Order: sequence, then structure tokens, then C-alpha cells
Amino acid sequence: MPAELVCFQASCRASYPITEVIYTCPRCGGLLEVISREPLPDPAELRQLWRARRLSNSPLDQSGVWRYRELLAFLEDYSQVVSLGEGNTPVLEAPRAARWAGLDRLAFKHQGFNPTGSFKDNGMTCGVAQAIRLGMRRVACVSTGNTSASMAAYASAAGLQPIVFIPHGNIAFGKLAQALEYGAITFQVEANFDQILALVRVLAEQLGIYLLNSINPFRIEGQKTIMVELLDQRDWRVPDWIVLPGGNLGNTAAFGKGLRELLAAGLIPRLPRLAVIQAEGAAPFYELFRRGEGKLEAVRNPETLATAIRIGDPVSWPKALHEVRTTNGLVEKVSEQEIADAKAIIGQCGIGCEPASAATLAGIRKLRQSGVIAPGDDVVAVLTGHLLKDPDYIHRYHTSDLRTPSGQRLVSRYANPPRVVPCDPDKLAGLLEDLRSE
Ligand code: F0G
Repeated sequence: MPAELVCFQASCRASYPITEVIYTCPRCGGLLEVISREPLPDPAELRQLWRARRLSNSPLDQSGVWRYRELLAFLEDYSQVVSLGEGNTPVLEAPRAARWAGLDRLAFKHQGFNPTGSFKDNGMTCGVAQAIRLGMRRVACVSTGNTSASMAAYASAAGLQPIVFIPHGNIAFGKLAQALEYGAITFQVEANFDQILALVRVLAEQLGIYLLNSINPFRIEGQKTIMVELLDQRDWRVPDWIVLPGGNLGNTAAFGKGLRELLAAGLIPRLPRLAVIQAEGAAPFYELFRRGEGKLEAVRNPETLATAIRIGDPVSWPKALHEVRTTNGLVEKVSEQEIADAKAIIGQCGIGCEPASAATLAGIRKLRQSGVIAPGDDVVAVLTGHLLKDPDYIHRYHTSDLRTPSGQRLVSRYANPPRVVPCDPDKLAGLLEDLRSE
């Protein structure tokens, strides 16, 4: 076998065959990771191979995930892989956002350009490939919305049955709409993400349904290619900082693993620092990092309008903590107001994103103000989801009707409300004249 499942716990490191259907270590309960035993070609050869594949018309080469398959050595046969053209997301310069945050330059790697509009597609193509390889017929996930949209699409495309569990009333409409349209059996459970995940982990095991939450290590393998693609796009120039939002912390785990593997393969000379940003009302990882020791203490009733990261008991925290420490990174938290302001600024750049993604820019601004990030630092923020995922938030913001979960009205500093006008050419012409200088 070229790869195996290995317990992430340094004190255990038990290993299991890659085809074993387990999500945590049967010996100690630790998280699992995929470890490849396959030797890699030398870095120059890899770079050239990956660059050449961009010109290929093979769907596997065109995928921004499977193009890097030398780092995804868990499959022996790629013929059953289902790709929807994931990855290939742009790196966008955003001078306006840079100015607002106090930086000379800032770039966004926008994962919202994925087929279902979020970074989950990078991981899902791998998770579903493993489900097919294991002969699974049904797949399930618990989700704040994006995972369910992505799983529904990939499972349906692969002819598997997708079953999604989402918190009733706390999911953005665009995401729910996707799960329904892609044909997932959809359960809206009257509980929060953490409570539902605990329930479904047991159920999936009992019923032989393959679990595609980010506790699934094959999802993490796919998501690590976000870092590989980013560095490839930058001609392997390492930024000083990579900033991302933190919810269940699968992405933090994936980015760290990807970066460490690039370093080990000689593809990059050093690691960038990971800065993970959480929403104030759902910031258990921030608290753990600040304390500097012990275990994560779950937040019982996480609250944030950035529903994607409304998570109080993130499963991947041991991995995420390891990655933040290994990269000399940090964890910051931001308020609802800061997220709303940052989101509007990202919109004004002509880029746009969903609320959770905007936590990055809010965090960068805060870290600039406290002097942790310097004005000339080379910073890449990862926007995790598309603007249209959560249109309700946008409409409320621009009509100055956005309220925090506790009912407090947020200030719509950059509001751009629609204007109701009469159907009268003279009045309209006058209005447009008045608006010339705006
Ligand atoms: N941003 C977006 C848009 C997300 O959908 C998520 C997670 C995150 C950030 C946080 O990433 O969990 O890897 O730390 N969404 C999950 C879901 C939980 O169910 O769609 P994380």
C-alpha cells in the first residue's frame, strides 16, 4: 500500500490500512491522517509536471486538486474519480481592501470560485473518491451549509445517495437551496452543529453510511491542495501570512499539512505563518490559543451571523493547534460589526464573499492595528465562500437592518441601499444629475 491511515496523536501514531472505514483511532480516539509512503520526484520535476498539466485537456489534469495527485497518493486507480472542475481559484489583488486594513498590498485566494461556491469542493472530490473506492452507496454530513452543498453535488454526480443534516433555521438560504437542488435527502435538525455532529457520528457507524465531515481525513487531503495551488500560482514565492477563518478547523489542519508537505518535498524553503480568525461568539480555539495549554473548552451556545463558522466544539482542534504552532502562527477573534464592515469592503473591491470569509479581512485589520502584521508584509487571505451564498445578510446590511443574534442592530457603515423611484424620466434625470459627484 502506498499510503496508510495514521493516528495524529504523537503518543500513539498507530497505523491502519488505507481502506479501513474509521474516522478516529480505534486505539486512542485521536484524529487520523493520511500518510503517503510513496517517494516524490524532485521539486523541479514536480513543478514542471504540474505546470504542464494546466495545458492538458484531461479532466484529472484540469482539476485544481487532482493536478497535484503526487501529493494525494491514497488511490491506486484514478479512473473513478468524480471531478466537477474544482480548484483553479484565482488569486486577486485587492488594493482597496489593503488600504482599509493598513497594508501596502493584499491578495485574496477566492475559494468561492469553486463549482459549488466554497472551498469544500477541494476536499469533497477526494472524500467522494474514497467513498467510491470503499464501495459505499450512501454518504452523510452534518453542515453549517457549504459542506452539505458540496457533498450533495459530488455524491449525486457519482451516483451515491447524499444525506445531509443541518441546523434548523441557522443556515444561509443559498446553501440550503443547493442541497435541495443537487438532490440530497435533507434533514433540518432542531439542534446546533455540534449537537447534530455527535448524533450523526454514531448513526453513520451503525448504519454503514460513509461520513464526509472534515473529521474524514480524505477531505483534509483535498483541502491541502488549496495551499499547493496557491504556491504554484505564486511561482513558489512564500507569503509572510496566510489568513483564514476558523470554524470546525478542518481547513486550518489541511493548510498546515499541505504546507509542511511542500517544505518536506523541497518545493518551498520556509513556512508562511497561519493566522486563524474566529467570530467573537464562537471562538473556543481563540481562547485555547490564548491560554496556551490544556484542551479546548467547547462554547455551548455559539452565536454569529457568519453561520458557516457558528461552531462551539471544533473537532479538528488538536491538528489545528499543531499547525498554528508549527507555522509560528496565531489565532485572533473579531466582532460581528468588524465582520460586517470588512465584508462590505470586500464587496467594494468587486470581489465579494460570504460573511465567514470576511472574518479574514477584519482579522488582518485588527492584527495590523496591534502591530502584529507590518504594513509591508506579504499577506494572502483565503475567502472561503461565494457572495451569493447568503443574500439575506447582504440585503439586511444594505438596508440597515442587520442585527446580531442578541438583537443588537449593527451599523451599516458602507450601506448601498436600493432607491425606490417614480417612473418619471424628468425626475430620474434630475436624480442622476445630483448623483454625478457620488
Ligand atoms: N468559511 C466557510 C464559508 C465555511 O463554510 C466554513 C465551514 C469555514 C469557513 C470554516 O472552515 O470548519 O474548516 O474551520 N463550514 C463547515 C460546513 C463547517 O459545514 O460547511 P473550517
